[in-house]
Amino acid sequence: MTSTSLPDSLIATLPGASYTDPGIFAQEQERIFEAMWFCAVRAHDLPKPGAFKTVEVGRESILITRARDNSIRAYFNVCRHRGAKLCTEESGEVKRAFQCPYHAWTYDLTGKLVAAPNLTKMPDVGRTEYGLASVAVREWLGYVWVCLAEDPPPFDEVVQDVIARLGDTESIEHYDIGGLEVGRRIVYDVKANWKLIVENFMECYHCATIHPELTEVLPEFADGYAAQYYVGHGAEFGADVRGFTVDGSEGLDRIPGVSEDQDRRYYAITVRPQVFINLVPDHVIFHRMYPVAADRTIVECDWLYLPHVVESGKDVSRSVELFDRVNRQDFDACERTQPGMSSRLYAKGGVLVPSEHHIGEFHDWVQARLGAQPQPR
Ligand code: FES
Ligand code: FE
Repeated sequence: MTSTSLPDSLIATLPGASYTDPGIFAQEQERIFEAMWFCAVRAHDLPKPGAFKTVEVGRESILITRARDNSIRAYFNVCRHRGAKLCTEESGEVKRAFQCPYHAWTYDLTGKLVAAPNLTKMPDVGRTEYGLASVAVREWLGYVWVCLAEDPPPFDEVVQDVIARLGDTESIEHYDIGGLEVGRRIVYDVKANWKLIVENFMECYHCATIHPELTEVLPEFADGYAAQYYVGHGAEFGADVRGFTVDGSEGLDRIPGVSEDQDRRYYAITVRPQVFINLVPDHVIFHRMYPVAADRTIVECDWLYLPHVVESGKDVSRSVELFDRVNRQDFDACERTQPGMSSRLYAKGGVLVPSEHHIGEFHDWVQARLGAQPQPR
């Protein structure tokens, strides 16, 4: 059966090759991850000037640091001399400059070339011109977002997109995500294409099958229709559930800005291309995806709580355990699906049943970014 001969009520998925072909993945890296705003690191992970992190964004290594004036800067992690990787560590701290391990060209925290062997004898090597190439940076929700495009799209588009999904202009601010602290961070190495992870996050058709703990806390998820797409109103906690925890027991201190109508509710949003955010009254779960290959994605997940909750050492484990289990259940499902993407049976893709139709919009968006014609809907 070809994709266009499906009955009207059904929509075809992307073909299997979209999830396995290194050429398609390279296009996605270029036209999605290197072209859009990419959520790279938590700003608090760069606590003082000279602290740095290196992050793979698309096909590039990006060096993110804090300068002496406390501003966050991002550069291509590529020495301007002969192209060696400047920082090979994932994170660390320098006193005042980055020195290339090859011939010792040295750049200050603003990227300027400040020293090199015999630099005074090379008047044509301009200190700024041959400084590190910078990348656009914004801070939002306590995270550092970078954009590798020469002419970055307005960051406000990212913000407006989130606000539109939540349905009103203030709701995300109520959670003060930038003012929260990381209570737990778990990094998952998922052997699946990044789009399988997005698609899974967008639907709840699977919830009754694989998420027993989550459907206990959020009973409306058991009917398969309560996809995040539909929960701009928030999914309500079950009547006898006291908190968003693995056993429904009491949560931690409520974030003060959370309004009465947001209390006892769960909201989930995707921020294209690689962020998922879950909002509950006492914490925020913030996922960042780092697609590294057609069949492999690193997902870094932060559980964020009020600072005094983290500083006082309160036990956050019951709330962490709920979504850690959900994550593992989801990623197991994605990993079970990945091999099927290479099957001849999936060459033309599968189907989206009605409760998954909104995933078709995601597919159209991906196709449009790659310059392909969307499938007829
Ligand atoms: Fe970095 Fe030569 S490549 S100093
Ligand atoms: Fe799930």
